[in-house]
Amino acid sequence: MKSIVILISGRGSNMRSIVEAGMPARIAAVISNQPSAGGLAYAAERGITTAVVDHKAFDSRAAFDEALAAEIDRFTPDLVVLAGFMRVLGEGFVRRYANRLLNIHPSLLPSFQGLHTHRRALEAGVKVHGCTVHFVTPALDHGPIVIQAAVPVLPGDDEDRLAARVLAEEHRIYPRAVQWFIEGRLDRKSTRL
Ligand code: GRF
Repeated sequence: MKSIVILISGRGSNMRSIVEAGMPARIAAVISNQPSAGGLAYAAERGITTAVVDHKAFDSRAAFDEALAAEIDRFTPDLVVLAGFMRVLGEGFVRRYANRLLNIHPSLLPSFQGLHTHRRALEAGVKVHGCTVHFVTPALDHGPIVIQAAVPVLPGDDEDRLAARVLAEEHRIYPRAVQWFIEGRLDRKSTRL
C-alpha cells in the first residue's frame, strides 16, 4: 500500500478532508512546522503519527528544509502533500520530492500566486475565483496543474465569505487529486523541474 506524509501549519482542514476521504493509502504521518497547529491534535486522535519540525529552531531555510526532509524520509512516503503548509520550500527540497509533492493553493492559478489571495481577488473585481491542486516545482505556485475548482464571487462577499466558499471546494478537489496520484493516474512525466 502506498504511503502519504501530509505537511500542515495550522488548523489542517485540508488534511482532515484527505484523511476522511478514506484513501486507499496509508497516512504515515502528519508533520507541522508550527507546534501549535490545530491539525496535530486531530491527527493524533485518529492514531496518525505526528511530528513537529519548528522552523524557528533553525538558522537558515536550508537547515530547516534539511531537518524537515530527514523527518519526512523516516516514513519513506510515495507522496508528500502540502495542506496549508505556510513555509516556502527551497529548490533542493523540491527537487528531492520531484513528481511526488502536491500543493493546494487558494486561487485559480496562474492568477493570484502568493498570499492573501481572497483579498486580492476581491480587490481585482474578478467574478470567478477558486482553488488549484498542483505539483510543486521550484518556482512558487507555478507547478503543473492537476485539478481546479471555480466558485462565483458574489455581491456582498468579504474575504471570509469568499474564503469559506473556496475552502469547501478545496475539501472536494484535494482528496480527489491525492486519490488519482495513489491510483497512478497522474502523468508525472510532464512535470519538468
Ligand atoms: C487553505 O486555504 C489552503 O489553500 C491555504 O491555507 C489554507 C489552509 O487551511 N494554503 P487548512 O489548514 O487546510 O484548514
